[in-house]
Amino acid sequence: MAKENHLKERDNFGSSFGVLVALAGSAVGLGNIWRFPYLVGQDGGAAFIILYLLFVAVVCLPIMCSEFIIGRRSQANTVTAFKKLAPGTKWYLVGLLCVVSPFIILSFYSVVGGWSIQYLVKAFSFQFTAAADTDFAALFTDFTTNTWQPVFYLFIFLLLTAAIVILGVNKGIEKFSKVMMPVLFVLMIIIAVRAITMPGAGEGLRYLFKPDFSKINSRVALDALGQAFFSLSLGMGAVITYGSYSSKKENILGISSLTAISDTVFALIAGCAIMPAVFAFGMNPSQGPGLVFVVLPQIFANMPLGGIIAIIFFISLLLAALSSSISLLEVVTAFMVEEWKIKRKAAVLIAFVVFFLLGIACSLSIGPWAEFKVFGLNIFDLFDKVSSNICMMLGALFIVLFVGWKLDKAAVKDELTNQGSLKLPRPLMNFILFIIKYVAPLVILVIAVGNFL
Ligand code: PHE
Repeated sequence: MAKENHLKERDNFGSSFGVLVALAGSAVGLGNIWRFPYLVGQDGGAAFIILYLLFVAVVCLPIMCSEFIIGRRSQANTVTAFKKLAPGTKWYLVGLLCVVSPFIILSFYSVVGGWSIQYLVKAFSFQFTAAADTDFAALFTDFTTNTWQPVFYLFIFLLLTAAIVILGVNKGIEKFSKVMMPVLFVLMIIIAVRAITMPGAGEGLRYLFKPDFSKINSRVALDALGQAFFSLSLGMGAVITYGSYSSKKENILGISSLTAISDTVFALIAGCAIMPAVFAFGMNPSQGPGLVFVVLPQIFANMPLGGIIAIIFFISLLLAALSSSISLLEVVTAFMVEEWKIKRKAAVLIAFVVFFLLGIACSLSIGPWAEFKVFGLNIFDLFDKVSSNICMMLGALFIVLFVGWKLDKAAVKDELTNQGSLKLPRPLMNFILFIIKYVAPLVILVIAVGNFL
């Protein structure tokens, strides 16, 4: 049984691998599977990938390190972290923003998580292969606009998320991630191999990887940056919280780099799993969520071994979504346990109820409440936009400003080198500090403003 003296002894990740798979789990998610492949195709193939890699390495990695530093140094949830590192100041409000963001993200994210369970159920009953001429677009609309069915699956998705988080950091999140992340990678590779070996797959690979530098413009640059941000779970406290459960021995730069690499490699594998099949069947590659829930089922229905591949695919989708949603729930749980001094079980239960109610609103906003609009958007789209365009941007901006300008430079160096025991070349260290202080805040401002234009 988990110890209930939760305030005295903080739960922690048991190994470096545990920290890595948990962080990679948070990063690898729905964003990698449906958004990345179609952005790449639409925005210039390899040219977009080069830009994306550049942003990840030069801008996002230092931001991730900043979050990690705040968490590891304070060993606390997002709010307490700022209170500890900058006592008597208003910086804790940034921590509070980090607690609010997961509510906005998880409420629409878990609706899509619910859809993936529903599709997994369909896959298990071989519904995709039973009738190759099914109208999957109509099926998807019927399902998502239905009142209760998606709410039921949303409930199941949140229940699974809560069940993992309630077990704790070490016995829940770490254990789950250690088993499921490798499984997820293997499953995605199996689908990619199946897709690449289909006749006509070459065109999809060309669509993904042929560089078209003429497509690169400021909107594409914003797409690449925004995607890198969302995909690496930056700016909303997930990395602060997971970092706070990491031991003082972990190499912050090393683990952050490996997380960014895993996330990018996974996105590329997902691209190879999806696009060749889309082209082999002459489908439309730029469909957003429809790609996963409409186009792919149609492909599964028509491909040899499609029934099995459908099961593998929707298991992967669910695992990817779950490993991200647990990081969102953990941010909120850690805050309640440590700031409100309540038990973990109670915290998870409270968060679960609120997430469920908000999730219901998001789910209904696609069906019966579709008429209700704020700024011309239904609740689902509104939450999506507010979280990625406002909350995550603001969170990340203040986090880098905090580490770059408020936190002691010696403290930052201490964290990056583990009190001098890790050797980091001086130019590299200066480069990281320079990015955190000047480049990252500027770039975030440019993305944020660009998003409003
Ligand atoms: N990184 C996740 C994805 O790519 C989404 C996410 C964002 C998860 C923020 C946690 C925090 O799907």
